[in-house]
Amino acid sequence: MQEQIASLKAEISAQIAAADTITALEDVRVATLGKKGSVSGLMKNLGGMSPDERKVMGPALNGLKTEVANELAARKDVLESAELEARLAEERVDVTLPVLDHPQGSIHPVSQVMDEIAEIFANLGFDVAEGPDIESDFHNFTALNIPEEHPARQDHDTFYLKPDADGNRKVLRTHTSPVQIRTMLSKQPPIRIIAPGRTYRSDSDATHTPMFHQVEGLVIDKDTHLGHLKGTLEAFLKAFFEVDAVTLRLRPSYFPFTEPSMEVDVQCSFEGGSVKIGDGNDWLEILGSGMVNPRVLENCDLDPTVYQGFAFGCGIDRLAMLKYGMNDLRAFFDGDLRWLRHYGFRALDLPTLAGGLSR
Ligand code: DAH
Repeated sequence: MQEQIASLKAEISAQIAAADTITALEDVRVATLGKKGSVSGLMKNLGGMSPDERKVMGPALNGLKTEVANELAARKDVLESAELEARLAEERVDVTLPVLDHPQGSIHPVSQVMDEIAEIFANLGFDVAEGPDIESDFHNFTALNIPEEHPARQDHDTFYLKPDADGNRKVLRTHTSPVQIRTMLSKQPPIRIIAPGRTYRSDSDATHTPMFHQVEGLVIDKDTHLGHLKGTLEAFLKAFFEVDAVTLRLRPSYFPFTEPSMEVDVQCSFEGGSVKIGDGNDWLEILGSGMVNPRVLENCDLDPTVYQGFAFGCGIDRLAMLKYGMNDLRAFFDGDLRWLRHYGFRALDLPTLAGGLSR
């Protein structure tokens, strides 16, 4: 009997190993452990055995049954994963496309310059913040210390939207400065952000378009001072214009949201018909800046006896024109393919400080 079990076991093991589909394996299961299967048949004989015989045969048969069940389960695992592999291979879809030899699209100089600016300031520890193009009067003007009757409102050639039921008129933001307000209202110092984006004023000529781009900078901390502002701007302009040194001139000016305020000029030369930043006998006005006005801090629930900081705002389109030598801003937004092909940047080259910003 023991021999019979051993040879049956060998036979079943061979059948299990030979089963190469789930269905074939199921047939082996039915033929062995199924109700009328060979192993079940032997188990049935136990009833007619003497107690002594049963003592020996019982465990032997149960062992057989367990071993067969284990082998079936193991084989099933193997067959199932093979089946899955086969299906995955068969159903595989290649969603990639070969890169074109001649890519058609290009990166607009404004996008390129925004990426370059974000890269430079990221290296200085600044986050990028955003705000909406359609802005409330509060964020665009009032909180920035430009109340209703303030003459600075007239300078902005604002596009107003229709008044809502309460008579409040939203505006197309005239500068990126409202993002300062949104940032200070939503997080606690230390704050270090830049906010690039679209801005709008009713103005149009060779150097003005109704929609244009600015980048705002804001740093708020307990001991931030003018030296930090100057150092930050120097580091930025040096990296942006890819020169070894820049000389800045800080000219006293007025902005309602900064005190003191200054306009920043960078030394340059116009010799040979193009601008060279870094040295020369001329000055180019490049941005507005200053120490954040304590009233603006108060409007954002920050205590001006604890916190102070600096801010700056800069036209991105003009930076692009200076760096890449375009002279008519209107062409930026005409969508002329010839212009875009000429001035556009390769789509897959991201500007990095290590790899070169504009290469
Ligand atoms: N918002 C100003 C403008 O559009 C630019 C500006 C000047 C922003 C000085 C600043 C700043 O943050 O400090 O003319």
